[in-house]
Amino acid sequence: MLGAGGLLGSELMKLLPDSAGLTRTQLSVTDLAALNAALPHHSPEANAQGAFNVALACAQRDVRLIHFSTNFVFDGALERPYVETDVVGPLSVYAKSKLEGEKLTSMVMPRALIIRTAALFGAGSGHGKLSFPERIVQRATAGERLRVVSDQTINPTYAADLAVAAIALASSEMEGVVHVVNAGCTAWDELARATLVEFGVAREVEPVSSADLGAAAKRPANGCLESTRTQALRPWREALSEFRRQASP
Ligand SMILES: NC(=O)c1ccc[n+]([C@@H]2O[C@H](COP(=O)([O-])OP(=O)(O)OC[C@H]3O[C@@H](n4cnc5c(N)ncnc54)[C@H](OP(=O)(O)O)[C@@H]3O)[C@@H](O)[C@H]2O)c1
Repeated sequence: MLGAGGLLGSELMKLLPDSAGLTRTQLSVTDLAALNAALPHHSPEANAQGAFNVALACAQRDVRLIHFSTNFVFDGALERPYVETDVVGPLSVYAKSKLEGEKLTSMVMPRALIIRTAALFGAGSGHGKLSFPERIVQRATAGERLRVVSDQTINPTYAADLAVAAIALASSEMEGVVHVVNAGCTAWDELARATLVEFGVAREVEPVSSADLGAAAKRPANGCLESTRTQALRPWREALSEFRRQASP
């Protein structure tokens, strides 16, 4: 597994403790020679993350490839959640590069499974990067003002739930693009409020527009996904409760 030190990667490693989990320092997807050298050594059954190089190295050895992508491949103009067959329209450099990664992956390896997901949260990753609910609780506890965007919707998705679903899909025959998110669609400020309720922190969340916040990269107003190919994960609010139980039992 590549990207094993990340938010999702660390959840996958908990479920697959015997698999070879490689951090970027150990193996970078930018290094095709290193990928080719590593694959036979690690005898992988499935890989997360990567694009052209990973797909090429996997295709050469007929390795099952699971590639992770994002809700940001859509422009967010639709007024319903996006399904797998909807037309893409990435708005940012990140979104364009993720879409390019999808295209290259399916070009080199048409049988690869491409899992698009959204707004991951969880217990953070090995390198101390906090996920959104953790940052909200930390800022609230520190007495900081909480101004959170109210005009962008997403499916908050629990990395631990996604990891379980991804492993199940990896052992299925499914190919191509599939959307895997916790069920339900909400705005970031609502997620912040639900987080504070869940963690028992009484603080106000001020709704702000994306324009007021002045974020550098454009994000889709409607970043919500649904699937016509697989069941949604449990509702995001239930997943948030489970995350809180895991964080502070
Ligand atoms: N987080 C979200 O809200 C979200 C939403 C939609 C889709 N996704 C997708 O879900 C996947 C997992 O996201 P995440 O939040 O778990 O990401 P993350 O916490 O940022 O972890 C990504 C991991 O990939 C590693 N990596 C980066 N460049 C690499 C390279 N050149 N070679 C090998 N490894 C490299 C990173 O290593 P270092 O630790 O060394 O940097 C890191 O461990 C990604 O494909 C992401 O696009 C995430």
